[in-house]
Amino acid sequence: MRKLKSILTATAVSLFMLPAAGHAGGTVEVLHWWTSGGEAKAVGTLKEAFEKQGGKWEDSPIAGGGGDAAMTALRARVMAGNPPAAVQLKGPGIQEWADQGGLADVEDVAKAEKWDDVLPPTLAEIMKYKGKYVAAPVNVHRIDWMWINPAVLAKVGAEVPKTWDEFNAVADKLKAAGITPLAHGGQPWQDATVFETIVLSEGADFYRKALIELDQEALTGETMVKVFDQLRKLRGYVDPGFSGRDWNLATAMVMNGEAGFQIMGDWAKGEFLAAGKVPGKDFICAPTPGNGFSFNTDSFAFFKVSGEDRIEGQKVLASLIMSPEFQETFNLAKGSIPARTDIKLDKFDTCALKSFEDMTAAVKNNTFVPSMAHEMAVPRTVRGEFLDVVTNFFNSDMSSADAAKAMGEAVKRAQ
Ligand code: GAL
Repeated sequence: MRKLKSILTATAVSLFMLPAAGHAGGTVEVLHWWTSGGEAKAVGTLKEAFEKQGGKWEDSPIAGGGGDAAMTALRARVMAGNPPAAVQLKGPGIQEWADQGGLADVEDVAKAEKWDDVLPPTLAEIMKYKGKYVAAPVNVHRIDWMWINPAVLAKVGAEVPKTWDEFNAVADKLKAAGITPLAHGGQPWQDATVFETIVLSEGADFYRKALIELDQEALTGETMVKVFDQLRKLRGYVDPGFSGRDWNLATAMVMNGEAGFQIMGDWAKGEFLAAGKVPGKDFICAPTPGNGFSFNTDSFAFFKVSGEDRIEGQKVLASLIMSPEFQETFNLAKGSIPARTDIKLDKFDTCALKSFEDMTAAVKNNTFVPSMAHEMAVPRTVRGEFLDVVTNFFNSDMSSADAAKAMGEAVKRAQ
């Protein structure tokens, strides 16, 4: 840790001595993992808007859904003393990097633009370090969604399921008809995405106890065993080619009728939209069973860079990200809803409106929870332990009881 701190300080000092390149709206290098069809379209709107202001955009995309590869690349860049100016970073990760001295604040922009007045306090808090904004949020993604091909459901005369029992019954019918019930990509973060929706279906209190408070009783008890039982059921509904598949290829399976369902956050909607598909007609979005809302907010954190041109670039980007126009345009492409609370949703589709409505209800009912799989809930080390256990379970014949026990032990190890 100390070594990292001194590298970060040295970087700031040495960069400070470089002459500024001088670009009207500044220069910004942006590290992100938005490389699928829908994601690329969405980040393209940010690049375009930045360039329109006269800025120079240096694109650093690191492919890999969920961002694990991007986070490895980030670490290497920081260790090499050369951090990118803006990095797609989330939740506790923002605090971790700020603690290590890596982040610069954009408080002057935030104050001037009154970010506190337009962001939900929960989100504002995540973006701040010691009271100052070090990151800017672009959206609210919902995790607990099912993406459904209605024509496939119609083939077996099924309705959209509301409970896991109903889901299993529809999936059995699809399987019997030779259709893959669940399109899935066997990557740890995708396994964990599915897992956490089942945890949430046991109630937001259970979700918090297990995945946020890391309560041993919740992690190893009967309810968790039940969660793993349902995950085992889902394992039986994926096709033989699931291993390693990218999430957007799983979305394509639902799109082209090869599969009935995908359980995935609403960036999947970005894929449907980028392919010209219409919600309610070509695909259906429906929450996974339960009454909660698991959220995942993408944000850009600002790493310490020097030279007027690069510092200017960060400020311009921060301001742009929080502008009402950008929050609308970006989220229309990304599948999420704006992070700002004052954006009219009249151009948004039924899935986005449902997300907003359910989010509002969840905040009121205290069932609004941060996503574990998407790095909103716990430190990376703890998340890593969760992912290992879930993936091991998914790819073996481990019993549910053993998985719950392993989860309790793994979490203890990481604490
Ligand atoms: C999430 C991220 C989303 C989406 C997804 C798949 O972690 O928040 O914006 O990109 O990964 O790559």
